[in-house]
Parts: sequence; C-alpha cells; structure tokens
Amino acid sequence: MRTKYCGKITSKDVNKIITICGWINKTRILKNMIFIDVRDNTGIIQVVFSKKYIDDFSEVLTLRNDFCIQVNGLVTLKKKPNLLNFPVSTNLIEIRAFKLFIFNKTLPIPLDYNKKNKEDIRFKFRYLDLRRDVMLKNIQIRNKVNILIRKFFSKNKFIEIETPILTKSTPEGASDYLVNSRLYPGKYYALPQSPQLFKQLLMISGIDRYYQIAKCFRDEDLRSDRQPEFTQLDIEMAFIKPCYLRKLINDLIKKLWLSIQNKKLKEIKKISYYKSLYLYGTDKPDLRNPIKFIELNHIFKDKYTNFFPWLSLYKTNRVIGINIPNGIKNISDKQITVYKKFLKKFYIHKLICIKIINIEKDLTDHNQNFNKDILYKIFSNIKIHDGDILFIIAEEVSIANTALSALRIKIGLELKLTDLKNIYPIWIIDFPLFKIDKNNNLKSMHHPFTAPKNSSIQKNSINIDPLEVLSSAFDLVINGYEIGGGSQRIHNYKIQTEIFDILKISKKQQKEKFDFFINALKYGAPPHAGLALGLDRLTMLLTNSNTITDVIAFPKTTSATCLMTGAPC
Ligand code: AMO
Repeated sequence: MRTKYCGKITSKDVNKIITICGWINKTRILKNMIFIDVRDNTGIIQVVFSKKYIDDFSEVLTLRNDFCIQVNGLVTLKKKPNLLNFPVSTNLIEIRAFKLFIFNKTLPIPLDYNKKNKEDIRFKFRYLDLRRDVMLKNIQIRNKVNILIRKFFSKNKFIEIETPILTKSTPEGASDYLVNSRLYPGKYYALPQSPQLFKQLLMISGIDRYYQIAKCFRDEDLRSDRQPEFTQLDIEMAFIKPCYLRKLINDLIKKLWLSIQNKKLKEIKKISYYKSLYLYGTDKPDLRNPIKFIELNHIFKDKYTNFFPWLSLYKTNRVIGINIPNGIKNISDKQITVYKKFLKKFYIHKLICIKIINIEKDLTDHNQNFNKDILYKIFSNIKIHDGDILFIIAEEVSIANTALSALRIKIGLELKLTDLKNIYPIWIIDFPLFKIDKNNNLKSMHHPFTAPKNSSIQKNSINIDPLEVLSSAFDLVINGYEIGGGSQRIHNYKIQTEIFDILKISKKQQKEKFDFFINALKYGAPPHAGLALGLDRLTMLLTNSNTITDVIAFPKTTSATCLMTGAPC
C-alpha cells in the first residue's frame, strides 16, 4: 500500500513519486491549497493538496485530524521550510499530492494528543493514547531494550527458556491469581508470581545459564511502580557466586544506558542493608540526593524520655537528623510548617528544627527543645555551617526511618539538591534472612529459597535468633526504585526444609506445596544463584517516565481493572 514511510523521506527522494499511508496530524487551509501533516510510526511529513493537481478537491475538504489515509504524490523541496516544526529528515521537503484515498474517517478523538490527559480516558482509549508521540517512543524503546537484552544474554551463552503460566503457587509475598480447571472442578492453577522454582529446577537439569523475559502475576496493592501483571528479566546460573552475577548485571545496566540514553554509568557500588537504613532510612535509597541521615542517638543516651517523652512507648528508638545546607535562606517558616504537616502522615510527634545562625556564638535553640549542653554536643558531632537548618526527629526506629526518608526525598526535590539528570544504581547486600510481618509472624525477607549467609544455618543447626541471620540476597536499586533482586539459593534439601520449619510451614503444607521441589533438590542439585530485574521499572527509568504504566502497552488501573476491556468480569 505504501512505497515510503513518512519519517523516512529524505532529500534523496525529491522528484520521486511515492505513496504514503498514515493518520492526519494537522490540517491548514490556505486559499486553494490544503496543507496536511501525515503521521505514521516513523514520523510526520507535510502533504500539499492543490486544486491544480487533484481531481476531487471536495473530498480533500472533508479531511479532519486522525482520518486514516493514503496519499500518492511527488516529493518536492518546500518553498518556505519551517525548520522548527518538523523532524530533521523531512523538514525541508513535502509531498505534492496527486491522489487521495480515505481508508477510514474517525469519531471525534476523546484525547488531546498535545496535552496531559486524565488517566481514566487514556486507559479507556489506550489504542488512541498509544498514538501519542511520547507513548510510541516508549514502546519503541521497550522493544530496543528487549533486543539488547536478548543479544547480551545470547552472547554470554545463556539460553532463553519459557516456563509454565498455569502452575502451582510460587511464594513471592503476594496473593496468587487463580485459574479454575474445567477438568478438575474445585481445583485451580496459580499464575506464577515469578518463575523462581522452575528456574531452580532448570539448574538441577544442568541447563547452567538460563534467562527469560517472563510474565509474572501478583495480586497485591498497586502503585505507580506496581502492576498486577508485569514482566521480569529472569536469570539463573549454576556454579557461580553472587558477585559474578552482579558483575554481569553491572555490564548489562551500563550497556542499556549507553545504548538508549548515551550515558556512561560509573562502577556500580554496593552497600549493606543496615548501612542503607543507617544513612538513608530505607533499603531503596535515591542516591542522586546527597542528604544523609545524622545519627544522634548517642547524644541522648539513656535520657531519651527527658527530651522526647513519647519514646517511652517504644522498645527501640532512633533520634536522627538531616542537615540542609543554606536551609535558612532556602526554606521559609511557612515551608517548615508544611513539612511538619507532611510528617504528621507518618505519625511523627514532633519535627525539631534548628536554624544554625552562628555556630561559634549562638548556641541558643530558639524553640527551646534542647539546652546549651545538648546543642554543643550536637554541633560538635556533625559537619554543619552557618546558614544551615538541622531537622531532628525522635521516634520508634521504623517510624523514624520512614518519615525522615520521605522528608529527605521531599526536600531534595524541592530545593533541587537531587540531580534528576543523574542515574545512580547501587547494590544493597547483606539483607536479613527473615523479617517479622504485621501479624508478628516470621517471614522471608526475599523468598524462602534464599540461602542464609550465616554459616550456622549452612551447617544445619540453628541455635541462634533467626532475625540475626543474614541472607545471601541482594537488590539492585536505581534512583530510589527497586529494580531487581536475587540471591544464592539453597541447594541442600535439609537446609531448605529447615527454613520451611523456621517459617512455621507445617510438614503437611511442605509436602502439599513443595514436595516436588524438595525431591528435586535430592538429585544432585548444583550450587546456583540468580536474580530477576523488573523490566517495566527498568524501561520506565530508561524512558524517563514517572510510572510503569507509561511503558506497558495495555496497563491496568491501580485497582487492577482494565478500563478498555472491562476486565475482570
Ligand atoms: P522480586 O519479588 O524482588 O524477586 O521481583 C523482582 C523484581 O520484579 C519487579 N517487580 C514488579 N514490577 C512491577 N509490578 C510488580 N507488581 C512487581 N513486583 C516485583 C521489581 C523487583 O525488584 N524470584 C525473585 C527473583 C530471584 O530471586 O531471582 C523475585 O521475583 O523490580
């Protein structure tokens, strides 16, 4: 139907007769001529219809934006090229139309391609939303990322293997989506939360290097970086240590940013989970933000409650601060009130704000939170300068961490301390193996197939507090987003069952859920390690998008519905 794509027409085509197909992007009428921009997935070209060259000009007059058309005509140089408005390859040229064919007219388009549209309209008419240039580019970049990934892994001798979608539950912390079985009424398949168990089974098969661009399904609370159905780049290798795997992923991440954004990333560093909490209050730190936490616990020692009476409620407390350079100049009192309100959401009792007017002379705390002695101790313990503002909170450890971490992000963005052009990946290592959940139950911090780092469990005798045990797990965090996670796996069935026992998974449940897997571990399972990267999140960062829904062709809403098809129904 076409002999040329709109965005591929160059000066070499001048004086050639060509045929293009696409949608009308803009129409302008000028006396006996009509100028139309035609758009396809490669770009835009201006087409000129003049009464002189076209048989049925009345048909041309009916043209409107988004009609789907075919135009045949001569490529010519523009008389007055508009250098600003067109892509470089086509901005000097246009098509003088000889023939027009209208494939389809259109209903009025419910979106404005040039403005920010509401999400419900975008999702309902997703096929039109995808016509927007930015969305088309995102989808094209996603395709390029997939191609680069496949080339990278193939070069590194990995093989891509598909694992089942109709399967049995794989615990990754969410609820399963279930599909009922027609042949076995009352029985269900679970959609995989990840290919975790299958990739481990492939290592037992001797596959050695596996990868897959895999669909995963998790029924959990959604947010801007979570979809119920998402894609992982899933990897597993036998006979390697996690550091080898991390090095491989470092190379991949660097390659992706170089190829897609032409950015050279520095060496990717690692930091322990506890250090990350100590410095940033989170295991997903955005390191483009230079603000670090200042530990002040030692200054108050056992006199916490003299200063912060509410701390008597908690077992473990933390007094921490963040220092904002030139805060006095850049943060107004009104803004400080906004921060106080903001922190209320995190159940913070008090945000203490100390303006450092003159460190040498002025040891007065204008809001009278602390005496001179304490102020002196604070000031002499940390690096501050005249003009800074020091914010301090004292709360139960996890409340303090979450709240100050949120304030750190907010201030970093508002005062433009966070360098948004930067890309800052970091490995978080040495996670604890277990955590306590909301109901006070012991849970795996990652998943129950993660090998403990602590040798006492490796030796199959746990006499220590499970919460003290470190794991071999690691997460890749980029710009504050958890992009991936992995670990060395348990390859000894006794240790695997011991972990299930610690997690209080009854022997009956172990048999029902994991018998096939425990059995497989008994057949000479090799040591192995692996990880999975969230491909949607990775592509979100590579396209500078703010939400993963901008890189998924047909996403769901945050309440897990598809506004276009009406699913679930
Ligand atoms: P994990 O559960 O950490 O590990 O998932 C790996 C990565 O997948 C992405 N991700 C998501 N992306 C979008 N929407 C979601 N609902 C969602 N959930 C997770 C994140 C995350 O870091 N089997 C293990 C990996 C392994 O040990 O090999 C696993 O799935 O970017």
